[in-house]
Amino acid sequence: MLNVAVLVSGGGTNLQAIIDANIPNVDIKLVISNNKKAYALERAKNAGIKALCLSPKDYEDRELFHEDLIKTLQEHEIQLVVLAGFLVNISPKMVQAFPRKIINIHPSLIPSFCGKGYYGLHVHEAALERGVKVTGATVHYVDEGTDTGPIILQKPVMVEKGDTPEILQKRVMEQAEWVILPKAIEMIANGGLE
Ligand code: GAR
Repeated sequence: MLNVAVLVSGGGTNLQAIIDANIPNVDIKLVISNNKKAYALERAKNAGIKALCLSPKDYEDRELFHEDLIKTLQEHEIQLVVLAGFLVNISPKMVQAFPRKIINIHPSLIPSFCGKGYYGLHVHEAALERGVKVTGATVHYVDEGTDTGPIILQKPVMVEKGDTPEILQKRVMEQAEWVILPKAIEMIANGGLE
């Protein structure tokens, strides 16, 4: 069994996709949100998964927040950390504590529309502004940069006439994110990755 923690900040539709995928040899031990109002916490509770809120706002500095986050993950013997819409920057210490054991879903085809400031709806606004005809999503390992780690899976999604950022976001989630995030976890848990 691979012990997995999913880190979230918002609605948790990617968390739901992971739960619904019922991935063999995967135990979702823990969901952590930095935002106590995140609907993702409800999704975790509804699925009988332990749900915690750890917010940087409750700590004197980011260093102390990350120390507690690492400690919590280690106490639960977490072997894979999945960032599923987690909007807190991960510290170098966290990357060192979990080398090649943290993955992230990003709503574009990296290296387009990624890095500082590109998260959530902003990514789709930028893609429409640039006029790309194809966008998509990427699952990658997390390293010390922002969206710079090795790519695991990508899936393209067509942009359509009349798309708004919201419509495009929904299509990218449905056609790409909810497919490749569970798939990547499945590959990691069951030895499908080189
Ligand atoms: C998802 O679209 C995810 O790709 C994005 O936040 C959304 C979370 O939705 N993540 C980023 O932009 C990270 N840079 P969810 O809470 O419904 O899964």
